[in-house]
Amino acid sequence: MQEQAIAWRHAGDDIGFVPTMGALHGGHESLVTRARKENRRVIASIFVNPAQFGPNEDLDAYPRPFEADRARLAALGVDAIFHPPVDQIYPPAFKTHVDPGPLAEALEGKIRPGHFAGVLTVVLKLFNLTQPKRAYFGQKDFQQLVLVRQLVRDFGLPIRIVACPTVRQPDGLALSSRNAYLDPAQRAAAPAISRALDAAAKAFAAGSTQPAELESVARSILQGIPGSTIEYAAVVDETTLRAPSRAIAGSVLAVAVKLGSTRLIDNVVLGAERL
Ligand code: PAJ
Repeated sequence: MQEQAIAWRHAGDDIGFVPTMGALHGGHESLVTRARKENRRVIASIFVNPAQFGPNEDLDAYPRPFEADRARLAALGVDAIFHPPVDQIYPPAFKTHVDPGPLAEALEGKIRPGHFAGVLTVVLKLFNLTQPKRAYFGQKDFQQLVLVRQLVRDFGLPIRIVACPTVRQPDGLALSSRNAYLDPAQRAAAPAISRALDAAAKAFAAGSTQPAELESVARSILQGIPGSTIEYAAVVDETTLRAPSRAIAGSVLAVAVKLGSTRLIDNVVLGAERL
């Protein structure tokens, strides 16, 4: 992969890179479509990264429909699909890990310790193997996006990170590979997550700037989902991920909700057209 990527770069071709864990859906496709428009070459990776899953998470159960994924990516006209085996990314001698620092301890990181170290370690390696000029990430995984931007800044990587809006079902549910785990009743209840974000965004637009007030607007709707647990519903600054004393345009309301054993995350940028 790296030899091919270097050859493309030497020939003067820009590379757009879309890292994924497969089980592709319209969200992933929107990233690839954007990359296709902006680059001479497009590489998509499919790699279910063990390093970002905790011991009690869904690594083994994570869906791996490679043939369907391959067909989707081929239809979108990618130049290469990088689908390495685990022992090629993490051979026995592999030792070095990226430490993402304090931003990885908020929100997702509090509940999934080590998750972002695993994400940034694989993203750095994938960047080096695919030599992109631009790399495409979804706003859906907002904290991941913030941390990847930090990685690029801190290590001086010559890569532009392009953030892409969250793709949703018509009923508002953000597309996610994990939606497949929902039973019909949970699937029917899940759009309340995006309704909760909408309601809080509306309250902000109507003048409410107290984080606690906005969070409680969202929580009151999330609590209506039967059998659900709210892991967090927090207004944070878009770059520091700290709780602001007042929400401003650009602050992000991020939520994580468990429906049965399935964790779903979503977020909204306050004061913006929905991203
Ligand atoms: P994965 O969950 O497969 O997501 C790959 C990319 O698709 C991420 O940038 C994610 O934010 C984006 N994405 C997921 N759902 C989306 C939606 N509904 N709308 C728009 N974009 C969406 O995120 C990962 O994989 C991994 O952590 C990875 C970066 C590949 C590192 O292992």
